[in-house]
Amino acid sequence: MTRVLMVCLGNICRSPLAEGILKSKVIGSKVFVDSAGTGAYHVGEQPDTRSIAIANLNGIDITDQKARKFNVNDFELFDIIYVMDNSNYKNVISLAKNSQEKSKVKLILNEVFPNENLDVPDPYYGGEFGFKNVYKMLNEACEVIAKKIN
Ligand code: 4NP
Repeated sequence: MTRVLMVCLGNICRSPLAEGILKSKVIGSKVFVDSAGTGAYHVGEQPDTRSIAIANLNGIDITDQKARKFNVNDFELFDIIYVMDNSNYKNVISLAKNSQEKSKVKLILNEVFPNENLDVPDPYYGGEFGFKNVYKMLNEACEVIAKKIN
């Protein structure tokens, strides 16, 4: 069983989409997928309505997700921690106890553009287009991830 955690800032826009998309591409008995945020602003909330909408358009239901904050136990519970941007990377790495924990943390777009350290842009303050763009990026990344871990 491979355990994958998707991490963004609020756990309401990007990482819930990443969780839903990856779940739709993997064999459930072989892969466990969850998501979390480095910030606590939205803990307990459903994903943003714009994330729910773009997921729905693509046949994915993410309405049962609830935002939670990333915590240090996640380094033990998960094999791979995909972060959405360089800011999330800094925040998560700063909580790691050792190099083994640090090595679990990866920028998700490096799966599509190796070593480029690109961000999945935060769509929270933008409009619908941002969410469509984020969906496309995460769909490509999750396609690569699913091929590796299935
Ligand atoms: P996310 O987007 O990190 O993709 O979930 C955000 C959601 C909320 C906030 C920032 C980013 N916020 O500052 O409330």
